[in-house]
Amino acid sequence: MDPSTTIAIRRLRPGDAPALYDFYERLSPSSKRTFAPFGQHPALAQYENVVHDNDAAVDTKFDLVAVEETSGRIAGWSFVWDLPSDQPTFGLGVADEYHGQGVGRDLMDGVLDAMRRRGMCKLYLTVVTDNARAWQMYARRGFVRYDEFTGEDGLPYYRMAAELMA
Ligand SMILES: CC(C)(COP(=O)(O)OP(=O)(O)OC[C@H]1O[C@@H](n2cnc3c(N)ncnc32)[C@H](O)[C@@H]1OP(=O)(O)O)[C@@H](O)C(=O)NCCC(=O)NCCS
Repeated sequence: MDPSTTIAIRRLRPGDAPALYDFYERLSPSSKRTFAPFGQHPALAQYENVVHDNDAAVDTKFDLVAVEETSGRIAGWSFVWDLPSDQPTFGLGVADEYHGQGVGRDLMDGVLDAMRRRGMCKLYLTVVTDNARAWQMYARRGFVRYDEFTGEDGLPYYRMAAELMA
């Protein structure tokens, strides 16, 4: 990463679908293995639906993106989906060239702050069991493992949940 690049974190907004599509397509196979909210080859229309669901009039998803201010490219993406349900679900992915530079931390903490402001009590996620860096990061933020399962991709996953108001 160019050290002069400035990253801004903001909510997903109309017009972002192509940049989000590009972000996901640029992820390495290793990152796609552990972060695949739509499977490995999502269509642009799926990102357009995510943008739609962030609209204030819909508001069933809350997505934050980390955006390079000069290029407009997306460097990271975090979200809570299924907002109106009893199992709102967290997700997080960062562009490979930005790993280890605090982008994931800032996105996750931004999403958690927003969910606490909304009064959300409990948040859920799933994480591949060998993705220790991710689940240790989640555990430091109060997520506790409560189950394991095999995903449709054949990988072993932990289920974790956090009490946000504790
Ligand atoms: C896991 C992932 C989201 C972390 O994001 P990141 O921007 O690389 O991480 P950050 O630099 O913000 O660091 C996050 C935390 O991990 C720690 N960390 C950073 N690099 C680390 C490393 N090499 N080893 C262990 N911990 C590390 C940081 O100290 C920080 O700790 P904190 O919890 O005290 O804040 C990112 O690596 C990623 O997108 N991986 C591929 C997709 C993926 O696995 N997503 C998660 C799906 S559940």
